[in-house]
Amino acid sequence: MRVLVTGGAGYIGSHAVRALSRAGHQPLVLDNLVYGHSPVVREVLQVPLVVGQVGDAALLQALLDGSHPELRGTPHEKRPIEAVLHFAAYAYVGESVSDPARYYRNNLGDTLTLLETLVARARASQPGPAGSSRPGTTGQPEAAEAVAQPIPIVFSSTCATYGVPQQVPITEEHPQQPINPYGRSKWMVEQLLHDFGRAYGLPSVIFRYFNAAGADPAGDLGENHEPETHLIPLVLDVMGGQRPYLQIFGDDYPTPDGTCIRDYIHVSDLADAHVLGLERLLRLRERGEPPREPLIYNLGNGTGYSVQQVIETAKAVTGRGLLAHVAPRRAGDPAQLVAAAGKAHSELGWRPRYPDLAAIIEHAWAWHQGALQTSRSAEG
Ligand code: UFG
Repeated sequence: MRVLVTGGAGYIGSHAVRALSRAGHQPLVLDNLVYGHSPVVREVLQVPLVVGQVGDAALLQALLDGSHPELRGTPHEKRPIEAVLHFAAYAYVGESVSDPARYYRNNLGDTLTLLETLVARARASQPGPAGSSRPGTTGQPEAAEAVAQPIPIVFSSTCATYGVPQQVPITEEHPQQPINPYGRSKWMVEQLLHDFGRAYGLPSVIFRYFNAAGADPAGDLGENHEPETHLIPLVLDVMGGQRPYLQIFGDDYPTPDGTCIRDYIHVSDLADAHVLGLERLLRLRERGEPPREPLIYNLGNGTGYSVQQVIETAKAVTGRGLLAHVAPRRAGDPAQLVAAAGKAHSELGWRPRYPDLAAIIEHAWAWHQGALQTSRSAEG
């Protein structure tokens, strides 16, 4: 199947591209490269990459119907896209507080353009009177009856849409009260998907990720954020000598050792879930039962580890020590975020391959060491 992957040059998106290729699908990446890395797509994954904005409706149209000039000679040339995985988003919680407009424009506004384009395209492909009322005349998609089946979309949401949990583990029914603009932008897209499903028949899966971590076991894909704010890569940076020390943000939380607890999920397991989610949507469509409400799944392991436990596990995996100072709490950090992930297991048949924190850190460390060698040889 030909799949448009927005944000496919980023951390989770790039792993999903690999999972799609391995499952026999043909990914096409759209990424603005603000945080993504083009060599990962072009050289490591070796799939077509078009650089641009998700909010560019004309570009989207050309990618969806295969007419974009950069698709010449690829499996996508003049062939329509059949599904979308939508990863592209900004994801720095702190920045979303200081510059919310950037988050609502990119994460919400551009996604609205993407969804409208999917719906308008389905309507345009509908023969007869419905298809003859061309999309874009009012800028608004029309009601369900006039719309042919839009292609399915899988959306990257986050446990940040739950806000401060009332109880853990967190089920998909837990109330959603996001506490920062990043979480709210993702929550708002979830609402769009509900409304677009009901009104226009847009089939969707919403995945709420817990803490994505680790790297492809092959060692050639991994986490490369600039700036880096996530715990595991920062711990490994200190252990590898790229940073002087780690700050532990608070040791007075109501948890057994006083540090925050998170549910770390291997990025390759997240990637696998996307293929399963997509395949479920397609099966439902083939059976003539496309969902008119998003299928929603938490993606986590259901096991929480504290910051201290992450540090101890990383020491055991790498054989290195690290200097760590306790710093004040980071604003907006809930004490515990742990997924109830049974729904993805039972409905999608998802079985995380690397549920062990040690395996997650081992793969992250292998990637970290490899990336370091590459940057050293590039410098020297
Ligand atoms: N932490 C430290 N020191 C650091 C970095 C992190 O102690 O230098 C702690 C944090 O306080 C937190 C834990 O390590 O308790 C994990 O922090 P991360 O920044 O790695 O991950 P978050 O849980 O903050 O973020 C993740 C996703 C976000 C999402 C958020 C939901 O990466 O996209 O969960 O709360 F918004």
